[in-house]
Amino acid sequence: MNDTLKLLHTHHSTRSYTDVPVSDEMLDQIVRAAWHGPTSMNAQEISLVVTRDAATRARIAELAGGQIWIAQAPVFITLIIDFNKTEQGVRNAGQTQVIHESMEGYGVAAVDVGITLANLMTAARSLGLGVVPIGGIRRNPQAMIDLLQLPLLTFPQVGLCIGHIDKDAPLKPRMDIATFRHDERYDDSAYQAAINTYDQTIMNYWQQLGRNDGMTWSQNLGNNLKQVYFPQVKPIAAMQGLLNDK
Ligand SMILES: Cc1cc2nc3c(=O)[nH]c(=O)nc-3n(C[C@H](O)[C@H](O)[C@H](O)COP(=O)(O)O)c2cc1C
Repeated sequence: MNDTLKLLHTHHSTRSYTDVPVSDEMLDQIVRAAWHGPTSMNAQEISLVVTRDAATRARIAELAGGQIWIAQAPVFITLIIDFNKTEQGVRNAGQTQVIHESMEGYGVAAVDVGITLANLMTAARSLGLGVVPIGGIRRNPQAMIDLLQLPLLTFPQVGLCIGHIDKDAPLKPRMDIATFRHDERYDDSAYQAAINTYDQTIMNYWQQLGRNDGMTWSQNLGNNLKQVYFPQVKPIAAMQGLLNDK
C-alpha cells in the first residue's frame, strides 16, 4: 500500500494536543493543499479563517459546547461558505447572484467545504499532525459570525483543529463495508444485521478506551438525530442572506 493510502486507511480524530506550535511553513503547506482543491464550476466559494490566537480559540471552544481540544490545539481553521466572493464576480459581469438563496447553492457549497476539509486533514496528517473536524461551531453561528467578522453571504460551516498529538486514540471501527459500498445497485438488505453487530463493536471500542459513558451507534444517533441538533443554522443562515428557499 502506498503512503497516501496508508494515511487514508488510518484516519482518526485526535482530541489531545501538546502546546508545541504548528510552524508557519507547515500551516502554509496545509492551507495550500486545500486551496488547490476543486470547487464546483470553479466558483471557489470557500474561504478559510485561520485562528492561532489562544483567547479566540478558547472562545470558539466555549461556543462549540465546551470542546476543550479547540483551546488546546494551536491552530483552528474555520471553513466558510463564501458567496460574498462569488457575488462580487457576478456583479462584475453585470448580473445578480441568486444561487446563494437555493438548496442547490447550499448543497454545492457543503460538498466543496467537505472536499476542502478532507484536503486540510490529509495534508496535516501527512505532516504527522493530529486533526479533528468541528461541526460544533454551528451550535451558535451568530457568535462565530461576530467573532470572525463574517460579512453577509457567508456562513461558518465547519472547523478543524490542527496540532501536534499528545495522547492519540485508536482507530474507531466502521460499520461493515457492505453498508457503504453498493455494486451496480443500491441494496440495504445487510443493514439491520450490520447495525446490530456494529452496536456491539462500538461498545467494545468504548470499553477498550475505559469510557463507561459510551453508547451504541443506534443509541447515539437516536439521541442526536431525533431533533435538529443545531436549530440556529437555518435562521442565522437566512439572516446572512443564504435563504435556502429556492
Ligand atoms: C463534519 C464533521 C463534524 C464533526 N464535528 C465534531 C465536533 O464538533 N466535535 C468532535 O469532537 N468531533 C467532531 N467530528 C468528528 C467525528 O465525531 C468523528 O470523525 C467520528 O466519530 C469518527 O471518528 P474518527 O474521526 O476518529 O474516525 C466531526 C466530524 C465531521 C466529519
